[in-house]
Amino acid sequence: MGFFTKDIKDLNDLFMHGLQDLYYAENQILKALPGMIEKATNPQLRAGFEKHLSETEGQVHRLRQVFELLDADPKGEKCPAIDGILKEGKELMSEIDDEDVMNVGLVAAAQAVEHYEITRYGALIAWATELGRTDVVPHLKASLAEEKATDVKLTALAERRINPQAEKAEKSERAKPKSTARRKPKAARPAAKPASKKRTAPKKARRRA
Ligand SMILES: [Fe+2]
Ligand SMILES: [Fe+2]
Repeated sequence: MGFFTKDIKDLNDLFMHGLQDLYYAENQILKALPGMIEKATNPQLRAGFEKHLSETEGQVHRLRQVFELLDADPKGEKCPAIDGILKEGKELMSEIDDEDVMNVGLVAAAQAVEHYEITRYGALIAWATELGRTDVVPHLKASLAEEKATDVKLTALAERRINPQAEKAEKSERAKPKSTARRKPKAARPAAKPASKKRTAPKKARRRA
């Protein structure tokens, strides 16, 4: 973009600029993913990254198809946003030694990338629709669906945790001997408090609602 001239004059220019930004971004992500795969020791995370690498190849191909439909040459425009996100992820990876912590960090770094892509595809779909270029929308929507699905999977991994603390807690819970609780005589268990009238009333009210 020129410093003294305004290169983006209308919505079509804005759309083309966004498309070139995203084309650049997808290509940068394609270069970054092998490094993330290498660092991921969690099997599900690694498999997820591998799958997304092949999806990203398909997304680059789809963007080329969009350029073709628009009679434009596939061209990337340097995007400082994705450069920053990927740079931060790379720096983070270089600062972590512990495998478990690395997996947690990788999930967060990957989600930052997915969220960036989701907003960019979302904007492009809205602008293409407004510009009447509904022919390119299905290509953009197909990639958006993949980005969203990847984000959902990453969230699930983060919640089930790859997080070492949560995993440790889960393991120790599973390791507790079940027999002890069964052998405990019923009388030894603390008796349940009788429900007061005040507590019963709202319960009934909730049931009726
Ligand atoms: Fe992508
Ligand atoms: Fe992605």
